[in-house]
Amino acid sequence: MSPFLLTRTLPEDATDADLRADVLHGLTCTPKVLPPKWFYDARGSELFDEITLLPEYYPTRAEREILIARAPEIAAATHARTLVELGSGSSDKTRHLLDALSGLHSYVPVDVSESALSAAAASLLDERPGLSVHALIADFTRGLALPGTPGPRLVAFLGGTLGNLLPDERAVFLKSVRSLLAPGDALLLGTDLVKDEATLVAAYDDAQGVTAAFNKNVLSVIDRELDADFDPDDFDHVAVWNRENEWIEMRLRARSALTVKVRELDLVVSFEAGEEIRTEVSAKFRRDGVRAELAEAGMELRQWWTDGEERFALSLSVAV
Ligand code: SAH
Ligand code: TRP
Repeated sequence: MSPFLLTRTLPEDATDADLRADVLHGLTCTPKVLPPKWFYDARGSELFDEITLLPEYYPTRAEREILIARAPEIAAATHARTLVELGSGSSDKTRHLLDALSGLHSYVPVDVSESALSAAAASLLDERPGLSVHALIADFTRGLALPGTPGPRLVAFLGGTLGNLLPDERAVFLKSVRSLLAPGDALLLGTDLVKDEATLVAAYDDAQGVTAAFNKNVLSVIDRELDADFDPDDFDHVAVWNRENEWIEMRLRARSALTVKVRELDLVVSFEAGEEIRTEVSAKFRRDGVRAELAEAGMELRQWWTDGEERFALSLSVAV
């Protein structure tokens, strides 16, 4: 058996308190808003994995193409002995990195989804008996305490998940990532790129309705955890391109006027017909913007790789 540890830095009652605070704030402010981390219960993580297989959802395939092409360069540039991955989900694409990093000692996947983490860790341990896996159930926006595994450390943040944070949140988050990097460590960042509106909207509003089910799943999470009575069928999934901010906005739009009880919060929420909850943004980037945000957080972009169609970028940066 190879070493395996699962550490919870997110106590279950803290998750509960966070959810309560987010729902109370988000459903009583105008416009209504919910933060994206609540998508990812076991069902949400499963639906996300289905999204990655959709013909319209190009980011996963594009990022995989870059990882396959560049993993040897990434290994040569970093000599990483510990790979930390934030928002690791199924760790599926990560396998290309694990294969290339020949001196790797430890893999530290970090995610809020316990079900995704334990499934990923179980199959990795099966495939790679020599690897030490230290999985962390944690919220990466809350500051991380990493295990004392050997350096150099490579911190990977893939999937374009950086774009799910708002610009102010990104600035705070990137500074906290910077604080994890010692001299010789590096950050591998996956960012989706600005492109034509039709391609972007289709990626977040697929023909089979998997993304719609994923978006509506956040209502089922609130129903279950806070004893609410949202009926997901009362809402339509909406994905719009916000040209000014260069992000896709995911929303849930009430089909008619309705009220929802959130019993655990003693809250009744009214919706007008057509009223929307913003559930997620997915920002799209340009090279200069990524470079500037990294620089602002004390990092220097050293490599920038795209897929053949320039849909997605991977960048490698170091602390300065
Ligand atoms: N890296 C994978 C999964 C991306 S989906 C890929 O590229 O396919 C985003 C992942 O981040 C999900 O697994 C979700 O559970 C996790 N996540 C979202 N918000 C998080 C947070 N605040 N802290 C930790 N993990 C988070
Ligand atoms: N990080 C992914 C992205 O921004 C998350 C995602 C994909 C997502 N599809 C979604 C989030 C649909 C909400 C709804 O591409």
